[in-house]
Amino acid sequence: MKRVVARPARADGRLTVAGSLLGVALVARGMPTIHYRGRDIDCEPGTVLRDALKDAGETPHNGLADSLNCRGKATCGTCAVAVEGDVSEPTSQEERRLSFPPHDADSGLRLACQTEVLGDVTVTKYDGFWGQKVERGEDA
Ligand code: FES
Repeated sequence: MKRVVARPARADGRLTVAGSLLGVALVARGMPTIHYRGRDIDCEPGTVLRDALKDAGETPHNGLADSLNCRGKATCGTCAVAVEGDVSEPTSQEERRLSFPPHDADSGLRLACQTEVLGDVTVTKYDGFWGQKVERGEDA
C-alpha cells in the first residue's frame, strides 16, 4: 500500500499555535496515519486534514464541490467528513457552519479544513454535495 506524507500547514499556509504545541508533543508517538478511501496517508502531527488529503491527491469534497468550495475558510461546508480518532477540537467557525443547513449540528461531522490531525484517524466522506447524507437514503 502506497503511503504519502503531508505537510503540517493550514489552508492559509500558517501553522496554528495549538497545532504546533500538540504536534511537538505528539512527534514522539510517531506520524499519524489517515485512513481514507482504502489508503493510508501519513502526515505530521497538527496537519490540517483537508491539506493532508489534497497533498496526497485525495479530496474531502464530492463532485463539483472539489472545484466550488471556499478553499478552507470554513464557509462552504463542502469538506464535511466523519472522523474517528485523535483530532483537534472544533473551531467556533466550524461549529457555526455545521449548524447551518444542509448540515445538522448533531451530525457529528467535521470540516476537514478546520480539523488538525493529532493521531491516527479514519475518515469517511458521505454522499451529497456537502457530504451531508450521513444516513443512507437521507434527502439533501
Ligand atoms: S473547504 Fe469550505 S468549509 Fe472547508
